[in-house]
Amino acid sequence: MNRFKLAPSILSADFTCLGDQVEQALAAGAEYVHVDVMDGHFVPNITIGPLIVNAVRPIAARYQAVVDVHLMISQPDRYLGDFAAAGADILTVHVETCPHLHRTVQAIRELGVRPGVTLNPATSLTTLEEVLPFVDLVLIMSVNPGFGGQSYISSSTEKIRRLRRMLDLVGSAADLEVDGGIKPENAAEIVAAGANVLVAGSAVFGGPRTIEANIRAFRQVGQEPPH
Ligand code: DX5
Ligand code: ZN
Repeated sequence: MNRFKLAPSILSADFTCLGDQVEQALAAGAEYVHVDVMDGHFVPNITIGPLIVNAVRPIAARYQAVVDVHLMISQPDRYLGDFAAAGADILTVHVETCPHLHRTVQAIRELGVRPGVTLNPATSLTTLEEVLPFVDLVLIMSVNPGFGGQSYISSSTEKIRRLRRMLDLVGSAADLEVDGGIKPENAAEIVAAGANVLVAGSAVFGGPRTIEANIRAFRQVGQEPPH
C-alpha cells in the first residue's frame, strides 16, 4: 500500500470551534488542510473565503501542513491575489471556470502559490491534457461539487487510474488528489488506482468518534494483517 497524505476538508468541521478542530486534525497527523470555497454561482452553495484561509494559516504553519484551497467559484482569476495573500499554499481551479486555463495556472505560480486544476465528474480528462506539465496538483472530483457528505461516484476510480497514466506519461510528479465521499472503507481502492492525497470531510469531522480516531482509521487503511 502506497503511503497517502490526508487532507481534511474543514467544510464538515464545527465552525464554532474551527481552530480547535483544525488543530486536532493536524495533531493527529493530517498533512493538508483542505478549504472548500463556494460562491453560490458555480456551485449551489456558499461557504467561506480568504478570511478563513487567513485564520487557519498560522495553525497549519505550526504543523508544517499545506493549506490546500479548492476554488469552486466562477471567474477565479479575480480572487487569486486575495487567496495568495491570505496564505494559500495550493490554489486549485476548476477547468469549467477557466476559459484561459494556462494563463490562470501561470498567474497562480507568479503569486508564489502552487497551481492545481480540477474537474467535475462529467468533465473529461482530455480537458487537462495540455496543462498537465504546468501544474503541481490535479484533483479528481468524486462527487458533484457543492456539498459535503455525498457518496463516492464509483466510476471515479477508473478516472483516477487513467489520470495516473497521463501523469506518468508526461513525467509529472504532481499530486493526484481525490475529493468527495472518501472513507476508510474506500481509501485503499482510491490509493491503489494512483491517488496520493485524499480529501475527507465528513469522515474526519463528522460521526460519533473523535477527529483523532477518525484519522487513525484512515491511517490503518492497508495495514491490517492478511486474514
Ligand atoms: C465537495 C467538496 C468536498 C467535500 C468533501 O464540493 O469539495 O471537499 O467537502 O466532503 P466529504 O468527504 O464529506 O464528501
Ligand atoms: Zn474540495
